[in-house]
Amino acid sequence: MVSKFGNRFLISTDRSSLVLRIDGIGKLLTDYYGRKLTGLLDDDHLGIDYPFPQGTSVVYSPDYWNHNLSLVKSEIATMGKGDYFSPSVILSDDRTQVFDFVYDSYRIQEPEPIDGFPTPHGASQELVIVMAERQTHARLSLHYVVYESEDVIGRYAEIINDSDLPLAVKKLSSLQLGLTNDGYRIIGLTGSWANELNRNATKLVPGKFVLSSNTGFSSNRANPCFALASSHADFTHGDVYGFNLVFSGNHEESVEMDTNQNIRVQVGYNPLLTEIVLAKSKSFVTPMAVMAYAEDGLNGLAHRFQSFVNDCVIPPYFKNRERPIAYNNWEATGFDFNDGKIKKLMKKAKDLGIELFVLDDGWFGNRDNDSQGLGDWQCNEKKIKGGLKGLSDYAHGLGMTFGIWMEPEMVNKNSKLYQSHPDWIVKDVDHQPCPGRNQYVLDLSRTEVQDFVYQSVKSVLDSAKIEFLKWDCNRPLSDYPRSGSFFLDYFKGLYRVLDRLTKAYPTVLFENCASGGNRYDLGMLSYFPQSWMSDDTDSFQRELIQYGGMLGYPQSTFSNHVAAKTSMQMLRKTSLDAKFDVAAFGVLGYELDLNDLSPIDQATLSAQISYYKAHRALFQFGILSVIESYEDGNVFSVQVHRGDEWMIGRYGAIQLANPKLSYLKALDVDPNAIYAYASRQESIPLSKFGSHINSVTPIHVNPDGMALAWLMKNKDMKSEIDQGHAYGASLLSQGPALSVEWNGTGYSDKIRLEGDFGGRIYHLIQSSKSTHLS
Ligand code: GLA
Repeated sequence: MVSKFGNRFLISTDRSSLVLRIDGIGKLLTDYYGRKLTGLLDDDHLGIDYPFPQGTSVVYSPDYWNHNLSLVKSEIATMGKGDYFSPSVILSDDRTQVFDFVYDSYRIQEPEPIDGFPTPHGASQELVIVMAERQTHARLSLHYVVYESEDVIGRYAEIINDSDLPLAVKKLSSLQLGLTNDGYRIIGLTGSWANELNRNATKLVPGKFVLSSNTGFSSNRANPCFALASSHADFTHGDVYGFNLVFSGNHEESVEMDTNQNIRVQVGYNPLLTEIVLAKSKSFVTPMAVMAYAEDGLNGLAHRFQSFVNDCVIPPYFKNRERPIAYNNWEATGFDFNDGKIKKLMKKAKDLGIELFVLDDGWFGNRDNDSQGLGDWQCNEKKIKGGLKGLSDYAHGLGMTFGIWMEPEMVNKNSKLYQSHPDWIVKDVDHQPCPGRNQYVLDLSRTEVQDFVYQSVKSVLDSAKIEFLKWDCNRPLSDYPRSGSFFLDYFKGLYRVLDRLTKAYPTVLFENCASGGNRYDLGMLSYFPQSWMSDDTDSFQRELIQYGGMLGYPQSTFSNHVAAKTSMQMLRKTSLDAKFDVAAFGVLGYELDLNDLSPIDQATLSAQISYYKAHRALFQFGILSVIESYEDGNVFSVQVHRGDEWMIGRYGAIQLANPKLSYLKALDVDPNAIYAYASRQESIPLSKFGSHINSVTPIHVNPDGMALAWLMKNKDMKSEIDQGHAYGASLLSQGPALSVEWNGTGYSDKIRLEGDFGGRIYHLIQSSKSTHLS
């Protein structure tokens, strides 16, 4: 809801308000962003002007001797008029590089799509404030897009050149916001390959903190999502601001603070090597940045962003649509497969209850390793007799759906595509382009390349019944052409292709992937509802990745696979159930070699799959919160909550000697209600006990010998079951005690043996005392 009160605008969502003010010289200022205001009062003094210029300041003009632009909480900043914060807008023409925008007009309109960039749907209103340059006839429109019930405000900027001189746009942030320091910590999501989305908190000090990518893609180095949390904020209480950008390319987010503790937040595309030159009456528009304010801590912010993504970002067809449990053959077979091997895996997957089979890399062209074949999207019928149709028919005959892997933006030199179109790759005039994973990037800024990519994917999707497509992108950009708009044009081209494809195949579930999470952002999620979060399938690493991701994204976007017991990436060994405990908080899948499963493993996986199916909506669409994190100790605990049901994942890092007692905590429960709780019973592998197995076996067993190997395949131990009832009040402040952790002696069904990097899932349901869970 947008209202105008004199020289002020009040933009309100269900639980937050943003107040903007046009000051005496026509500058647009942030007066307030916080809890919802039901109106504006004449004398509420939300913003105040400095009554005097500080020592070394430059004042705006002789008529405004006290007006120092460095001391105001401006919604845009240019250079040359005494604002010494970093500019959010940098422009120049042949005559000047000083630009001075002042208020011109406003309008309130129906929200409109942004030309060239994905625009989240479901906004209720849009306020456009037009600022005019005092001398040069440039106009700057600031768009405030209100997602009322989501508590999210979008902002983007558009510049129009009305003068006869060409206008160079060297930087144009989507968003600038003024704040005053409240002991803020910046919480960013930084990382690298196989280690994405680490939550990192840094206390703000005077200076400038920048999160950015210049890899060409939004990157695993720094996600565009970040939060500012006040000194007293924790998971459930306190003021938190969050920001993100609906764009998949280079981005830059900065938080700058001066010694007066004035803060400017900026979010936008990264202006590095980007300069747009506008002829007369041409305009340039930025992607949308989004922001949210929460008074209820980091979980509160996460809930707003999670619901915004589910409701307004992902394609509407997939809103609340339950996602299938997938099997992907990559970690089991790599490139080494044929139709017989795949059909055998399909059959085994089906027997376990898996619903979707995804054929990964290696099915096309001469793609027997990663140095060849990319770009030739015809099925290799020598490897797969009967082609994709044969495999798809087989899967459907079994009662499963079928999916496929593609990497449409890339090409290997060893391919027919490269032989016919060597000029289609991204390259500069002189240098030999750098390979990445032996491949090169197709220049999606060119229309003929966009058409090729569209047609390649279309012909694959038309060649068989294909319900799922994993879209990969395994290297960043390099060797860019000398064009000031390349880093934006690449994505406008990509988005054009994705828009066409998702409109032509609205029910196909696309999974975003870029060597895991190297391009996990609101831009890609606008077309692809879920994402392969990381190439690291080790469950402990995934706990950390999911912990980071959930700050800004819902678990319906997390594609999580249970992989082999010994992690391919970490060589860390954890049980299949420990892996499931983490993977279940997202879209569940499997990626291990099903031929290696023992009878016990098969029973374990079947039980996991049945459990997940019974609670799928809760796992995929429940409100996700952090209860405890490793920052505070040895336990990491999360919950999903939907209606009167909860699932709690409770994990430990390294097992400690003489551990303290453990209790089951939950959030968002009614203190006066009664809840039934029950742990999911797990399979404990006998190998955990090593030679201690001999304390229970009638004959001596060599822990490294054949007898134990045989026993392990056919027998396991069952974990403890913790169940009972609890008042909500107890769950909120202490919780019921859980079985005591293993501590060196006396295993029994009253002992909780999680070991290193283990965990449990607990189901909680509001109930009358008589309800029992199993
Ligand atoms: C990337 C993906 C993997 C797999 C391989 C195939 O690394 O992240 O999941 O699909 O490509 O080459």
